[in-house]
Amino acid sequence: MTMASCGEGYTPKMVRQPYLQSAIADSVSVLWRTDVGNGCEVRYRTVGASRWLTAKGVVRVANTGLIANEVTLTGLDHAQVYEYQVLTDGIEPAPSKMYRFRAPLSRADTAFTFFAVGDVGEPVADDGTPDVLGKALALQKDQFHFGLFLGDIIYPDGQSEDYDKNLFPYFTEVFPYVPVFTVLGNHDWHEPQQNYMQEWKLPNNEHYYSFTYGNACFIALDSKNGEMHEYDTQREWLIRELENAREGGTDWLIVFLHHNGKSCTYKEDYEAVVSLYPLFEKYRVDLVLNGHAHTYERLNPMDGGGQLVPGGLDKAGFTSITIGSGGKLRGIGTDPGPFTPDPDNCRYPGLVAKSVHDWAYAKFHINGKKLVGQAITTKEHEVVDTFELVK
Ligand SMILES: [Fe+2]
Repeated sequence: MTMASCGEGYTPKMVRQPYLQSAIADSVSVLWRTDVGNGCEVRYRTVGASRWLTAKGVVRVANTGLIANEVTLTGLDHAQVYEYQVLTDGIEPAPSKMYRFRAPLSRADTAFTFFAVGDVGEPVADDGTPDVLGKALALQKDQFHFGLFLGDIIYPDGQSEDYDKNLFPYFTEVFPYVPVFTVLGNHDWHEPQQNYMQEWKLPNNEHYYSFTYGNACFIALDSKNGEMHEYDTQREWLIRELENAREGGTDWLIVFLHHNGKSCTYKEDYEAVVSLYPLFEKYRVDLVLNGHAHTYERLNPMDGGGQLVPGGLDKAGFTSITIGSGGKLRGIGTDPGPFTPDPDNCRYPGLVAKSVHDWAYAKFHINGKKLVGQAITTKEHEVVDTFELVK
């Protein structure tokens, strides 16, 4: 089938710069969008190598009318840095350039860095700050092995047509270099099959999935509007994943989803999430990362009953962090003035370890049995929270 006509000598226009997906095991998928195209490929090699490798992919007409190019690279050497260029119809789309990525680590590699942030794609015209976040993350792109987007990726309704308005243009120095894994937020939950699923390439059913990176297992959940998508089915799946992770001997177990369980922000405690706490305790989940509230808030470690674990970070319990401070700080636009935590909403004395009401993302560095987490403001690049977990 002809996707679009492109006459002799026509250079396809790059409408969406490359973005890296499903960086798992020895594989990475490269996606980009052009105005025309009937075929696509990626040329790649480890930095310094003399010989280029080529992988062909597939093109399809996206729901926005653009051409979605997708190439999956396999057989990558763990942890190696590759340079690559993308070709549509045998030509580099304009503008494009040489990009780089780092191949996923093996199980034996136990040092890596990732970012996590949610609630990003608010229009800049409405005082959203995806542009500021994109610049902040770009400064550290060589450090990040991958990133987690914690839902509410596109406001107001997660529409495909808004991805190239509210998100991708601001991450052209991030997405071609750093693979991202996403979860659905409530704002993304408008016909996700026709929107969200068309934009991302994720494992499993794309609603919930897991992947191993180094000595850590990451589990992505779909909390829908707070009640969890397919609660019973997803919970059963989660139990199996947690069992597998523990039997597989992973050092770190990290769950990420959009909604919070307990919190002291202006958001309610989502009972469906709280109902998973006993599993988090049983399977010794280390971190639970969420967005939703447009602020940063790290809680002290809790047990399966949501009670604080005495002894602080070097004891048992999971650490839950809200990082919904990506692009739409509450207090901006139509929202009431800034506040966090909300003392009227927090019924748990001592729950909050650190709260910062500023635009910020989180950076995590795992090195063997030690994890260091930081919150970094997107405007001033100031480290406003630091904590350590040690096995
Ligand atoms: Fe949300």
